[in-house]
Amino acid sequence: MLDLSTPYMGLNLANPLVVSSSSLTGNLNGVKQAAAAGAGAIVLKSLFEEQIAAETAALGKHAEQAGHTEAAEYLQGYGKELGPQAYLQLIRDAVKTVDVPIIASLNCFSRDSWSDYAKKMESAGAAALELNIGLLPSNSGQQGRAIEERYYQILHEVKTKVKIPVALKIGPYFSSFGEVAAHLGHDRAEAPAFSVGWCGPGATKTKIVWRKADALVLFNRFYQLDIDIENLELVAGNPLSSSSEINTSLRWIALLYQRVESDLAATTGIHDSRDVIKQLLAGATVVQLCSTLMKNGFGQIERIRKELETWMQAHDFSRIDQFRGRLSQARSQHPANYERLQYIKLFVGLD
Ligand SMILES: Cc1cc2nc3c(=O)[nH]c(=O)nc-3n(C[C@H](O)[C@H](O)[C@H](O)COP(=O)(O)O)c2cc1C
Repeated sequence: MLDLSTPYMGLNLANPLVVSSSSLTGNLNGVKQAAAAGAGAIVLKSLFEEQIAAETAALGKHAEQAGHTEAAEYLQGYGKELGPQAYLQLIRDAVKTVDVPIIASLNCFSRDSWSDYAKKMESAGAAALELNIGLLPSNSGQQGRAIEERYYQILHEVKTKVKIPVALKIGPYFSSFGEVAAHLGHDRAEAPAFSVGWCGPGATKTKIVWRKADALVLFNRFYQLDIDIENLELVAGNPLSSSSEINTSLRWIALLYQRVESDLAATTGIHDSRDVIKQLLAGATVVQLCSTLMKNGFGQIERIRKELETWMQAHDFSRIDQFRGRLSQARSQHPANYERLQYIKLFVGLD
């Protein structure tokens, strides 16, 4: 008897196949289809910080145009209080309608009061939150440490506001990702002292109890920029990934397994059962699927699940924890192989 059940951030998932945050999960119909197809959990489309700001601004502008300056000011605050109702309603409807854990997703990048929305999402019934953070370090005057501390600060603010588990979905673009992951992935009695004062003006850094992300979601595949050489203009790159993009996530899942206390969710380039098995062998707690569902439909979840079961039977595994992390660096006799960056003829057959 095969058992695919997977504990993820304290939630009990029927299997490790999680539907990733995207337009597929931005409405109740998508949520129902994902659940019917056998998803282990569903991450809703992100509520974007800009959406929160836009709603607030729209309310204020309307009042301003009508000549009610005071009302406009009031509405600016009211808009924030009210929140994008449709998103909260989607959480309520999804939780009521399907039997699968619903993870709400919040995109944030500033230090604004958006973090109150995390609380509202919890109250609406979300089983967990996924924070989708992406900061492009294009400002030549900004130090790398200051950018890292924005991530720490956002996680800290949300963790102090909600009781439900919080996952952090990030990209791979850090100069010392090992250190960043160690910081995000461990509980500590005190926050380590940082140079820029991420815990806010006047706060005593060492008094802050630091709480880890309940999961690290590695790695987001951000909007890709491309150029149209005929029309000489910027265009969007292909929004959908391919299996060949799995390797960065695979390497870091393998490096971080048993090195951080957070669960590890793999995302980007996971298209079929082979990709799923690779990530589980590397140490992923769960895998997230997006592009493959957009290309093949929700039926892909069941195909992957069946093929995963066939592979487990062929290898005499009855539970996922019998092979999760088996090819992680922590369990390897040859840890240096995980840190190889340069091509050597011996390994790839090419100079
Ligand atoms: C059209 C589209 C919309 C997406 N929207 C979101 C989003 O709202 N929030 C988020 O965290 N990720 C979003 N993503 C990223 C996916 O969740 C996923 O992490 C990424 O596509 C890599 O996984 P994949 O290779 O399985 O596609 C989106 C991806 C696509 C293609």
